[in-house]
Amino acid sequence: MTIVMGIETSCDETGVGLVQDGKLLGDALASSMAEHAIFGGVVPEIAARAHLQAIVPCVQQALHKADLDLRDVGAIAVTTGPGLASSLQIGMAAAKAYAVTLGVPLFAVHHLAGHAAADTLAHGPLPAQCVALIVSGGHTSLLTLRDLAVDRINHIGDTRDDAAGEAFDKVARILGLPYPGGPSIDAAAAKGDPHAFKFPRALTGPGQPKYAFSFSGLKTAVARTVEKMQLKGQPVPVEDIAASFQEAVADVLTSKAILACQEYGAAELIVVGGVAANSRVRALAQERCDAVGVELRVPPIRLCTDNGAMIAAVGDLLVRAGAKPASLNISTTPSVQLEYASLA
Ligand SMILES: Nc1ncnc2c1ncn2[C@@H]1O[C@H](COP(=O)(O)OP(=O)(O)OP(=O)(O)O)[C@@H](O)[C@H]1O
Ligand SMILES: [Mg+2]
Repeated sequence: MTIVMGIETSCDETGVGLVQDGKLLGDALASSMAEHAIFGGVVPEIAARAHLQAIVPCVQQALHKADLDLRDVGAIAVTTGPGLASSLQIGMAAAKAYAVTLGVPLFAVHHLAGHAAADTLAHGPLPAQCVALIVSGGHTSLLTLRDLAVDRINHIGDTRDDAAGEAFDKVARILGLPYPGGPSIDAAAAKGDPHAFKFPRALTGPGQPKYAFSFSGLKTAVARTVEKMQLKGQPVPVEDIAASFQEAVADVLTSKAILACQEYGAAELIVVGGVAANSRVRALAQERCDAVGVELRVPPIRLCTDNGAMIAAVGDLLVRAGAKPASLNISTTPSVQLEYASLA
């Protein structure tokens, strides 16, 4: 059975994973997050340079953890989009070099399909059909998935403006909490009252699109609340605002996901991507799935945010499905939509 090495460099995490027949054998992760923190967001040039420095050590570390040699690798999978152009280039160049040197096939993987496949490493193969909620730093989509390696991915609804993770990052900035915003808000919210402020739940009223999302109005509502208090010289209750904001996001995400499961007859919901690491999103999704008899699948936290294992997981599915490898002339596609897991 082929051992697939997955390479992920789409943003600020350099990830390498080794997967064989649905099992994670070993992985390694390096992050340039700390270098971006003072800028309040990812600086592409810094991220690309960090990938260049981290990629070979990550490959070696993942092989070491799996107790494997580079010559054991039978296929390479790499994120070719979407993501930061210069960061994607580093992973792509490394993947091509490994594929050529080892004489093994190269598979081009859609980053978001990787987020979905991450769950298979923890909970086994996906069911024949399920609803997936992908909530990450740059994307928010409700999808129906069939065979990830073969079938076209169906979008039920997407965000019209900010992604959920982007909203966490922007609201954290407004509240003076450190980057990345998701974990900071999660921690602050744990000490706050989620009902202290009634923030808007966009696109949830009668006659509004059932499955589309919008988070920019929510972010603006938080900003206006903070501004008003600052103008009046009042202290800003950061923890209560964080908790109320987080509650609004979790409420909208989970209510629409449950509705989709019911309407599309899905017995299982998978919630993936960086925001799936959020404690309230996880808890509310579980509560609402239990109430309607839907089985919830959420990857362990370390597989929610970017990593190489999830890309190897897609590569492994593609290899086992007999998918066509990518040409060595393939380019990166920084803005590619999610239609298929393979970008070959
Ligand atoms: N505990 C948490 N609560 C809420 N959000 C979180 C948490 N942990 C991480 N995030 C958010 O997840 C996002 C990062 O996730 P991920 O790595 O999946 O995104 P990305 O790769 O940057 O974007 P994309 O996958 O759309 O290209 C950030 O916006 C971060 O704030
Ligand atoms: Mg991601």
